[in-house]
This record gives sequence, structure tokens and C-alpha cells, in this order.
Amino acid sequence: MNNKMDRKTFLSYLGTGATALAAASAGLGVLEGKASAMSGTEDQLFGFKTNRVSGKFDPIEPTKADELVLPKNFKYDVIAAFDDVINEAGDKFGSGCDYNAFFPISGSQVRGLLVNNHEYSTIFSVGPVKDGKMTPDQIQKSLYYQGMSVIEIYRDEKGVWKMDTSSSYARRINGFSKFDITGPARGIPALKSATTATGTFANCSGGVTLWNTVLSCEENFEETAANSSLPETHYGWVVEVDPFDKSFLKKHTALGRFNHENTAMGLAADGRVVVYMGDDKKDACVYKFISTNKFDKNKGRANSALLEDGTLYVADLKKGVWHPVTLEAVTKAATEDPSLLDKFTSQGDVVTYCQEAAKLVGGTPTDRPEDIEISPFDSTVFICHTNNDNHGNIHGHITRIFEAGNDLGAMEFDFEIFAAGGRQSGFSSPDNLAFTSNGDLWVVTDISSSSQNKGVHKSFMNNGLFVIPTSGPDKGVALQFASGPVECELTGPFFSPDEQTLFLSVQHPGENTEDLSKPTSTWPHRPGENMARCGVVAISGFNLE
Ligand code: FEO
Ligand code: CA
Ligand code: CA
Ligand code: CA
Repeated sequence: MNNKMDRKTFLSYLGTGATALAAASAGLGVLEGKASAMSGTEDQLFGFKTNRVSGKFDPIEPTKADELVLPKNFKYDVIAAFDDVINEAGDKFGSGCDYNAFFPISGSQVRGLLVNNHEYSTIFSVGPVKDGKMTPDQIQKSLYYQGMSVIEIYRDEKGVWKMDTSSSYARRINGFSKFDITGPARGIPALKSATTATGTFANCSGGVTLWNTVLSCEENFEETAANSSLPETHYGWVVEVDPFDKSFLKKHTALGRFNHENTAMGLAADGRVVVYMGDDKKDACVYKFISTNKFDKNKGRANSALLEDGTLYVADLKKGVWHPVTLEAVTKAATEDPSLLDKFTSQGDVVTYCQEAAKLVGGTPTDRPEDIEISPFDSTVFICHTNNDNHGNIHGHITRIFEAGNDLGAMEFDFEIFAAGGRQSGFSSPDNLAFTSNGDLWVVTDISSSSQNKGVHKSFMNNGLFVIPTSGPDKGVALQFASGPVECELTGPFFSPDEQTLFLSVQHPGENTEDLSKPTSTWPHRPGENMARCGVVAISGFNLE
């Protein structure tokens, strides 16, 4: 990217806030009657009432610096990093930080619980793995450091975000935690008749529910399950946790078992709950689950039962329809080759072997669907197709789905390619997404560490965070807001409800390190340390007007 282009883009971008405001007040943003952005976390799912312009910044240039680089007038505080003590019991923060969700305590914008996913183990968490085989000690560490953390955080009087380790809520959820299994696969032979499962790991992205709990997604679970001799069918699910109640731990099998990236929850026009989900694998599908019953705000957390009973659908992008992933549909699809049905004797089998079932019923193989977000403005659905070198899709794209009648419960849709990775856009391999209330889409990138700063990825340099307006003259134009340290991926962008703070994870800095005495990154550069630590930061400096 050259400087001239950046400057031009920036100048036009400064106009975007005003344009977005005008569009919103003209009725483009469906904002009236929606919950206030100043209230609880779940209100982000209903959209925002405010029209804050959180996107004003002077875009940065791509860089190879071993630092989290932000635009001028912004700063970050490291709230928690790998192996930090999080509570009085001495539990430690995990490895491979990914999804974040912030839950205000008593409505506070400056004190709350932060839930963080821990996706995987690195040389910094388990040490070098010899000949690809972990020792028993490394397996235990791997199960311990993956999963999730719940930590209590606050902003002090100097404006610095910190962890409160005296919190009674702070705890780990990891490979040793016990989960209740719900839905059609509960107790079936394919799960060894289990009604509970031990542990969650490979927790990638996730989502918040309309009842203020967190859904966390088990993505690349296969290796940890195999290393630990745990039953593979107990993983690859969506788990639900309540940050304020440690006894509430569920695996919802009605949402299918695959390499779950994330969840994005919304409501159908008739009040049923809809959950969009990506299966982050090459040639895998996009799904949505629709509950049988309707959401009732007065029921609070009891709405969780909606995730136990409903229909799973898979997207057919050629026809623009959602196909049910049901035993009936699978049976019908296999009439010419009944041997395909050997695996499927119940709906429990269908959700357990969901990837095969989805293809049978007509799901379109796509280019690694990662995060999905529902626009709080117009209910269109944004999907990051990160990349797929099998098809020559090296830089990925962001797909936007338009559900028929603007109803998330629709069975038909159309779509567009909202933005494409590449030199022209300045980003490659989009991954996690978040919206701000002015309709800007915040996008982090995941160029693999083996490709960064090489070949066709050279111009992008380190992975970054980009802002893309979804309306106005700069619709689809990406501006770089942050650049991560060496060999990291920025993950889990999540705004506090007042949009004054952006929580962001720095995952796997120094990932290519082979010798612990020679780390390729030392971020966050703590005094006296010579290692990289993944961690969660709070970014401040948003100049709200
Ligand atoms: Fe864990 Fe698909 O990224
Ligand atoms: Ca991801
Ligand atoms: Ca997201
Ligand atoms: Ca990724």
C-alpha cells in the first residue's frame, strides 16, 4: 500500500461517520425501539440505539514490528497474559487466547467479567514436543491451559484496565471441567451413551446469547482428544457457560458437531432463536440452527433450553436455500445409495456426523467459513471465508447473506461478496468480526505464520485489525487500525457496551519459535522475561461524539 492511497482513503473515511449517521436517521439503520448500547452485553445482539462514531482514526501502515501497533492517540493495556494468576486459588490464564466477551457487573462499563477462549497449546505453554508426541506431563498441561478463563476486570482511576484477582467469579474452564450433554446426541451409542462429557478444548471463537451466557466453539479438537485418549465424539460441539454461575456448563448437540468457529445469535421474525455457525475447514459449510420454541425475555437463562430443541440447516449457495440437516432429509438424499445411511440411524447420529450429513443434503462446500456476525443495522449476515488454497482463493473474502424478507428465520436467501482480500483491499484472510454501532465492521486477519511476510503475502506484513464501513460511500473499504506482533493473529475483538473499550486477544506471538532460548517474538515485552505470551488487551482512545 502506498502512502498516497492511504491518505486519500483516510480523508474519504472521515466523511463516513456523518454519512452513516445520515443513513441511520433516514431509516437505513433499524434502530428505533432497540435496546440501549449502554445496557447489558446481550443488547448488542438487538442492535444499538446510539450512533457513535467509533471509527475515527488515522489508519496505520502494515508493519513487521514485534509490537501491537495502534493509530495515534490510542493505547492498550495488557489485562491478562498466558500463565498469569487469575484468582486467589492460583488458577492460571490459559494458552492461545481467542474469543472475548465482556459482561458488565451491575451495569458498570468499567468493571465486569471477561470470558476468554483458549484455543490451543504452543511451545510456550507445553514446551517443545519431541517427534510430534507429547509426554504425559505435556498432555496434562495441554488440557489445563486450553478451554476458557473467566476473569474479573476493571478500569482504575488512571484509566488503566487491570485484572482483579480477588474476584469470586474468576475461574478456569478447561479440559477437566464436566459438561452436561443436551439435545439429540445425549446418551446415544455414538457418544458411548454418555450424558456428560469431560472437558472442553480447542475453544476458538464464540458468541453471547440473548440471555447473557457465552457460547464457545470447539474447533480443531481432534489432536488434543487423540493425545489424551478421550472419545472424539465428545468434542466438536458448541458449549454454553454462564460467567456468573460456575455450575452451568453445557454441550448443545442440536447445534451439530464439526470444526465450530463461532456462533452469531439473533431472532427470527416470529421470535424463534436463530444461531449462525461456520465450520472452519476447507470445503466446509455454513449452518444455522432455528429453535422450535420462541425466545421469552422474561425467562432469562431458562431460554437456554431453546438450544436443545430445533432444526439445523445448511446453506446451499447455488440455490440460495437452507436445507434441513435431519434424519429425514439424509434418508431421502441417500435413496440411490443406502450404504451412505449406515452411520445415520437417529438425529443424534446426524448431528454427530454433521459434516457428512450436510454434504448429503446439499450444503455447499465453501472456503473455510470463520466468524459470522449479524448486522445490527439491517439483519444481513456477514461471513468471513478466510481462504482456501484448494480453489486458489488465497486471500479470502467476506460474504454477506440477505435473508428473504429480512427474516433470519427465512428458508431462502441471496448473497454478495461484500469485500475481497487482496492487494486492492489491503487485507488477507479475514477471520473474526465485530460491529460497532455506526455500522462499521471490524475484521481481524489470520494469515498463517508460515505465509506471513512471504510471497503474495509480503505486502500485508503482520496480521492486523481492519475497519470496513458497511454503508455510505466507503462501503467495503478496509482501513488498518492495528498490527499485531510477530507471528501472531489478532482474535476476539469485542467492544464494551459503551464502545469506549475494545477488548482484543493477541494469539500465538512467536508461533514459529523452535528453541525457547531464541523466541521469534517477546511480546508483551515484560521486564526480565525472554518469551512471548499470548494475552488479552483493552484498547482505549475512542473519541466518541
Ligand atoms: Fe480457530 Fe478458525 O480459527
Ligand atoms: Ca478464528
Ligand atoms: Ca465475532
Ligand atoms: Ca483462523
